Parts: sequence; C-alpha cells; structure tokens
Amino acid sequence: MGALGLLALAVLLATAAEAQAGVTSLYRRKMEATADMPLDADVFRVPTGYNAPQQVHITLGDQTGTAMTVSWVTPNELGNSTVTYGRSPEKMEMSAEGRHTRYDYFNYTSGFIHHCTLKNLKHGVKYYYAMGFGHTVRTFWFTAPPKPGPDAPFKFGLIGDLGQTFDSNSTLSHYEANGGDAVLFVGDLSYADTYPLHDNNRWDTWARFVERSVAYQPWLWTTGNHELDYEPKIGETVPFKPFTHRYPTPYLAAGSTEPFWYSVKIASAHIIVLASYSSYGKYTPQWAWLKEELGRVDRKTTPWLIVLMHSPWYNSNNYHYMEGETMRVQFESWLVEAKVDLVLAGHVHSYERSRRFSNIEYDIINNKATPVHNLDAPVYVNIGDGGNIEGIANNFTMPQPGYSAFREGSFGHATLEIKNRTHAYYEWHRNHDGAKAVADSSWFTNRYWMPTHDDSN
Ligand SMILES: *[C@@H]1O[C@H](CO)[C@@H](O)[C@H](O)[C@H]1NC(C)=O
Ligand SMILES: *[C@@H]1O[C@H](CO)[C@@H](O)[C@H](O)[C@H]1NC(C)=O
Ligand SMILES: *[C@@H]1O[C@H](CO)[C@@H](O)[C@H](O)[C@H]1NC(C)=O
Ligand SMILES: *[C@@H]1O[C@H](CO)[C@@H](O)[C@H](O)[C@H]1NC(C)=O
Ligand SMILES: *[C@@H]1O[C@H](CO)[C@@H](O)[C@H](O)[C@H]1NC(C)=O
Ligand SMILES: [Fe+2]
Repeated sequence: MGALGLLALAVLLATAAEAQAGVTSLYRRKMEATADMPLDADVFRVPTGYNAPQQVHITLGDQTGTAMTVSWVTPNELGNSTVTYGRSPEKMEMSAEGRHTRYDYFNYTSGFIHHCTLKNLKHGVKYYYAMGFGHTVRTFWFTAPPKPGPDAPFKFGLIGDLGQTFDSNSTLSHYEANGGDAVLFVGDLSYADTYPLHDNNRWDTWARFVERSVAYQPWLWTTGNHELDYEPKIGETVPFKPFTHRYPTPYLAAGSTEPFWYSVKIASAHIIVLASYSSYGKYTPQWAWLKEELGRVDRKTTPWLIVLMHSPWYNSNNYHYMEGETMRVQFESWLVEAKVDLVLAGHVHSYERSRRFSNIEYDIINNKATPVHNLDAPVYVNIGDGGNIEGIANNFTMPQPGYSAFREGSFGHATLEIKNRTHAYYEWHRNHDGAKAVADSSWFTNRYWMPTHDDSN
C-alpha cells in the first residue's frame, strides 16, 4: 500500500471512530434561568365575561380517541358541565354532560373544575365544541386522531418540564410553529410548587398559558415530581392532589387502576405512560399492569411502541444522575424483550438522545454492569428542556458514555413524525433565543418491522 493509500486508510479509520463517539454539543445559550412570566403577562389573561370558561384542555377520553375529555374551569360559580359539539361551528347539535370537582390546598380553593367526555367520535374528523353561557360561550375545535393502523402517519410533539417562564413560552411557540397533532408530555407541568405554599394560582396561570395549544389538540400527561404537591408541613398529605383534580387520563379504558400509568393507541403508535413517582416494585399495581399491557401490544396494528416516564433511565448529566435507576432495574429487560422503539423522559433540564443500548445482563455478582449496544433496545430521549424556572442542567459526565449519541444543555422541544410502519423522522428543536433551529435529527426504524437495522447515528 502506498503512502496515499495509508493516508486514506487513516482517514477512514478516523471517520469510523468519529461515528462511534457521541456528540457533546458546545452550543451555549445564555445560561441564567429566565423568570416566570408575571401574573399580568398576556399569556395568563383571563377570558372576558363573568364566569367565562378558562383553562380549556383536552386529552383522550378512551384508548384510541373516539372519545375526548374536555376540561375547563369556571372561576366564580358552577355554571354547568355541558359541552355542545358538532362538525361545524354553526351546527353544534350534539351535547354531553360532564361532572365537576373542586379542591382546597392549604388556604387556596380552586375554581369549579369541569370534565366532560365527548363520545362516539369518528376517527380523523374535525369537531367544534363549546361551553359557557350567552356572551361567555367559548368555541374551540380538534380533530379526532386517525384510526389505529400500521401505516397511519402522525406527528407528535415531545415536550417536558415546561413551567411558565419566558423560555417556556418560546418552547410552546416553536412547537406550535412546527405543527404537531398531539403532545406527549413527559411530566412537570406548572412548577406551582416552587412558590410558597405551592401557590396553586400558578396551576391556574399555567393552564391559561398552554390553552392556546391544548384546547385544540390532545396532550397526554405523565406525572413528574412537580405534580406530587406532597407537603405534610402544611397539612397536604395526598400526593398529586392538584394534578388529579385538573388533568384526567384515560386510565380506566387502559385497564389501569390509577390515573398515573395507562396507555393509548394513536394512529400507528401504542403509547405506554409510566409513573416514576408511584410504586413499581415487583407485585405492585403498576408492575402488574405493565406486565399485562406489554402482552396486549399488537405491533401489526400499532408498529410503534413508545414509552413515557418522567425520570430517565439513561442520563449522562450530573443533574438527577441515576435517579431513574431503580425503575430501570425493574423494567428494562421487559422493554428490551418487547422491542420498544423509543423511551421518552424529562426531569433533567437538558437534551440527550441515546443509541440503542441495554444494560440487562447484570446479576449483582457477574460484573456485566456496562451498557452494551443492543438492536432490540429502545432509543432513549431526554426532553426535560421545556424551559422552566430551575434553569439549564449543563454539567455532563465526562467522558461521554458510549450509549449517548447527542447531548446539549439548551431549552427546546422535539417532534416525532411517524411516516409508516418502518420509518419515523425525529427532530430536536433548540429554542436558540428566538429561532426554531433544528439542532439534532434522526431517522428511527421500527424495531418490529426492521429489527436488524441499526438506525443509530
Ligand atoms: C408568548 O408568546 C406568544 C406567541 O409567540 C406572544 O404573542 C406573547 O406575547 C408571549 N408572551 C410573553 C409574556 O412572552
Ligand atoms: C347548561 O347550560 C346550557 C346553556 O345555557 C343549557 O342549554 C343546558 O341545558 C344546561 N345544562 C344543564 C344540565 O343545566
Ligand atoms: C394564604 O396564606 C398566605 C401566607 O399566610 C398568605 O400570604 C395568602 O394571602 C393566603 N391566601 C389566601 C387566599 O388567603
Ligand atoms: C458537576 O457535577 C459533579 C458531580 O456531581 C460535581 O462534582 C461538580 O462540582 C459539578 N460541577 C459544577 C461546575 O457544578
Ligand atoms: C416508509 O417511509 C419511508 C420514509 O418516508 C420511505 O422511504 C419508505 O419507502 C416508506 N415505506 C413504504 C413501504 O412506503
Ligand atoms: Fe422533574
């Protein structure tokens, strides 16, 4: 081999080595956490009219979206829990009766929180819906998700740890500009608990802030640590009290016994939501449910198997390092065996995408405790970078572990565009102080239909 040949070989080897090394992006935005938007910010504006419905949001009311649960708050008096709806704004000839609830939290008393499930919807059809009386009637619309099927395309938004800062607002604005059809939200909604006495008025402001998206498309909720609102010092000993009163989930339809873990089937995706802050040890209700649920997954109908949780299993940031470890030890082998395509988590306020790795051989004496490349394993995405008041987590472990493909300490959101049974296109959008830059992207190939294809990059 001549000198040129050797040089070419060296370049080739160097390139191959580079392809293996993960990227720790050195992009730096301004590092300080931005403040929460003030109470008089435009995004928190109360709709005009006495007792006007506010904080409107929707989520799936059954497993596939032929039911949609509409929730809202009337601040002054009960009003009623009726939603009128139909296929055009002029002809909302159908109506559904809901229910209402309220709760106290220390010295805060919530408004009247209404939940009303619209049933027998047709897949893929646009519906208009309204609630309220006279001049306070407010009208919104949504499109029921497509019927589950192997090649039904769908675009998800992936958002976590949003909060209500100016950065949160740019994350939401950029997501809106990128136009997903539903949001997979990986937990930590309002961060009301960062205020004295967990000021629950900040649950109300948060719901008014995100109404501009979640009144028009379903968001699927995962519980994070900021949903716990467990504060014995002030007599608040029921975990998740504000969350459960405000944010219903279709858990009964999913055969679950608690609202915190459940599943839905949207288009070609089967989505399983797990609860990092509910028990998951062997024989617990969540453990028993997940075991059965994985047996119910039908990859011929819903090829894409996606799991949501709050606390990540693979996270190479020093922030919250290994907090998800006990759940990983409990469930990782099941997920690998089930060939899960993608696991989404939040909690760590930065962005990270993994390669397909697993760590399921270790048995406490065999020393096999190093994650290994495994094409049956999911890609892990940490999307806890929604922009909340706690700021960016920018202290990564060094060197970057082999499983980590890309990581960066910036705020943003991601989108997952499922094209058909074999291909999905994924993008992470860095907020970059105003521009919706695509800072990381990847094609994912389906683990059931293309099990031997290595889509890591
Ligand atoms: C939030 O973002 C929206 C849409 O970009 C904008 O109209 C609004 O003024 C922003 N509000 C604040 C408080 O930044
Ligand atoms: C709720 O209010 C609407 C609008 O006034 C009315 O048509 C409907 O009958 C009311 N429902 C109940 C149960 O009172
Ligand atoms: C609740 O208590 C706090 C602390 O004492 C006080 O600042 C706040 O005004 C009270 N809120 C209500 C609604 O009474
Ligand atoms: C980064 O995290 C490590 C491990 O927790 C810690 O020892 C170190 O002080 C941190 N560095 C900074 C700059 O915070
Ligand atoms: C699935 O989508 C990918 C990406 O758009 C495309 O390359 C592929 O041909 C599609 N497969 C089928 C069977 O249509
Ligand atoms: Fe968290």
